[in-house]
Amino acid sequence: MSTGAPAAQTPKTFQPRIFSGIQPSGGLTLGNYLGALKRFVEKQDEGIETIYCLVDLHAITVWQDPEKLRQQTREAAAGFIAAGIDPARSILFNQSQVPGHAELAWIFNCVARIGWMYRMTQFKDKTAGKNAENSSLGLLAYPSLMAADILLYQATHVPVGEDQKQHLELTRDIAMKFNHDYKVDFFPITEPVIEGAATRVMSLRDGTKKMSKSDPSDQSRINLTDDADMIAAKIRKAKTDPAPLPETLDGLKDRPEAKNLVNIYAALSGQSAAQVVTEYAGAPFGTFKPRLAELAVAKLSPITNEMNRLMKDPAEIDRILGQGAGRADAIAAPILEQVFDIVGMVRSRRPPG
Ligand code: TYM
Repeated sequence: MSTGAPAAQTPKTFQPRIFSGIQPSGGLTLGNYLGALKRFVEKQDEGIETIYCLVDLHAITVWQDPEKLRQQTREAAAGFIAAGIDPARSILFNQSQVPGHAELAWIFNCVARIGWMYRMTQFKDKTAGKNAENSSLGLLAYPSLMAADILLYQATHVPVGEDQKQHLELTRDIAMKFNHDYKVDFFPITEPVIEGAATRVMSLRDGTKKMSKSDPSDQSRINLTDDADMIAAKIRKAKTDPAPLPETLDGLKDRPEAKNLVNIYAALSGQSAAQVVTEYAGAPFGTFKPRLAELAVAKLSPITNEMNRLMKDPAEIDRILGQGAGRADAIAAPILEQVFDIVGMVRSRRPPG
């Protein structure tokens, strides 16, 4: 018998689906690899549906040379495949080939508030010391496109590095505001997945700065295109302090460079930082660095070699990206149609021809 009380709303459950992206605005770094790519492969191997995107529309929020951008997009795709992304199991594509990303981003531009965008630390960092008014409108609206990337697939989980946390919180805010404004339970409240020993890989020259493809010093980062000698030389020259490695993790406090190298070792070897510290307790960097270099070369060189091999056939890479885009679009298009319907757009069937 009905009590007359409104039925409690059970929140909709969404099929688990992973989405993540990387900007092809430069070569892939060790930070991208450990914080994102290596974990994308692990997720693929857990058997969850995985969609990975080279976000070329995000890349052009700051100026990109067109030919370089095309080259970097193909190179990033080769990096994904070389690192273990299987285009038959994961969907791998570049963002601009699926129009729904830009279309949903527009709708989210009308849901999100300008103030939310100004609060983003990445926007503040990218405009620091410059005239923010002179940055592209796209750079400000960047997180709205990122929310569209994820929600276009109603993705439930997003593996990223630590620096993307705030953008993912904003994605949740946009989903909640859309659901609230239109009185629907349409978009999932996506979970960020930030885990592992290297969620924030730091610069090899300054342990307080993130390793980044946009750092002017190439010595600050390891690129996935670096050969074995370059990797070893960069690790040998990495900034450290004079003390040996501590006996416990606590001893890494206030030693950002030492902590960074331990975390990199841990992530590359699949151990925890605590295990690495136990193994190398009291060792000087003169001992630790060559071991780290050896490990990095052993893990990264096969990826670099495979990337170089794949890059010899750009047409094959384009084919893979096109096929991925077709599969992505097949998931996105019906979701986007529902969004247009929810927001009140007339959708007429066009006469053929
Ligand atoms: P991007 O291209 O800067 O970085 C791609 C991924 O690599 C991670 N990462 C790091 N992780 C650890 N240490 C580092 N030093 C490091 N540098 C980069 C990033 O956290 C990220 O996971 N806005 C995103 C791209 C994006 C996206 C998305 C991500 C667009 N749409 C949708 C997830 C879902 C970005 O600029 O990442």
